[in-house]
Amino acid sequence: MFGRGKTTVGLDIGSSAIKVAEIESRSDGLHLVNYGVGDLVPEAIVDGEIMDRQMVVEAVQNLLESRGIKQRRVASGIAGRGVIVKKITMERLDPKDAREAIHWEAEQHVPYDINDVSLDFEILGLDVGPKQMQVLLVAAKKDLVSTHADLIREAGLTPTVIDINSFAVQNAAEANYDFGPDEIVALVNVGAELTNVNIVRGGVPLYTQDLSIGGQSFVEGLQKRFQVSRDEAVAAAKGTDAGASLDIDAAVKVFGDELGVGIERSIAYLKSSGEAERVDRILLCGGGARIHGLPQALAERQRVPVELVDPLRKISFAPGVFGTDDPKTVAPQLTVAIGLALRKAQEK
Ligand SMILES: Nc1ncnc2c1ncn2[C@@H]1O[C@H](COP(=O)(O)OP(=O)(O)OP(=O)(O)O)[C@@H](O)[C@H]1O
Ligand SMILES: [Mg+2]
Repeated sequence: MFGRGKTTVGLDIGSSAIKVAEIESRSDGLHLVNYGVGDLVPEAIVDGEIMDRQMVVEAVQNLLESRGIKQRRVASGIAGRGVIVKKITMERLDPKDAREAIHWEAEQHVPYDINDVSLDFEILGLDVGPKQMQVLLVAAKKDLVSTHADLIREAGLTPTVIDINSFAVQNAAEANYDFGPDEIVALVNVGAELTNVNIVRGGVPLYTQDLSIGGQSFVEGLQKRFQVSRDEAVAAAKGTDAGASLDIDAAVKVFGDELGVGIERSIAYLKSSGEAERVDRILLCGGGARIHGLPQALAERQRVPVELVDPLRKISFAPGVFGTDDPKTVAPQLTVAIGLALRKAQEK
């Protein structure tokens, strides 16, 4: 059982910001005891690759220290090109014989040398055909996993879990919402460089895809469109007074359209494979989800409900934890970190 006072920490190292969430599992439920968001300069991590190790290590250390987080054991996640999540259909086998066969099968689906990846799998429902089974393959490049774990160790921490960011989002969403068994939900994590789309039904990822758009491309677009500084563009994206002189509605609509096209492409894939005809609901998270007016712009296009995820919907917290910040605005950016921390909390 989970001892009193024991906490789990989720550490999300993104390309523009490091996010951390510390969660305690108490007899009366889950409780957020601490969190932190620390900005990173854009040069430190580019295309998911760590360019300036020392800078990232120090940023992690500074964030934990400034927020007074003492727990050294952390769960972290990876994303991007080195991570492959794929659902395959193969000959049905007895689960005890499946491992080797799945390994062979994976070689055809993973675009890297199979010896260079860590492979994990889950046998999904068996009702795809009389002699077939569906398997969720999760492959991650070993060097990506080890670089990430080493960086965490260099920061004086112990990596207990290296998860996949889009699964952490799913974990956080499922812990906070009661989705129907047939409800199809698109979880859309709008980061700085990348947007991860994960379409799930009944706890199973149907399709995951990364789009090369995010808060950074949106801000750069504003800079070009209005010939303003980065700071002014960021202020406008946030909808703060400092940026109020710029009318960003048209730019938000364009961004919403780009996101919409990406989501529609995923739905088209699911349609063509006969797995799903529609998406019932879109949940947005990540820092980029807070672009002023984005949920509305996307909802207008998609004609399904679009909401910001509240990853603290069923997790309590002391009001003091957020200081003067509004939890509703901070929380969407913490979704991955919370999902990582929860995975550990639930496993204990
Ligand atoms: N209040 C806000 N309004 C608008 N945009 C915001 C706001 N807060 C953060 N952002 C944008 O969100 C992005 C950061 O979000 P997030 O922390 O989820 O990304 P990341 O994890 O660092 O990136 P990635 O996942 O792509 O590596 C930045 O582009 C930032 O400009
Ligand atoms: Mg991110």
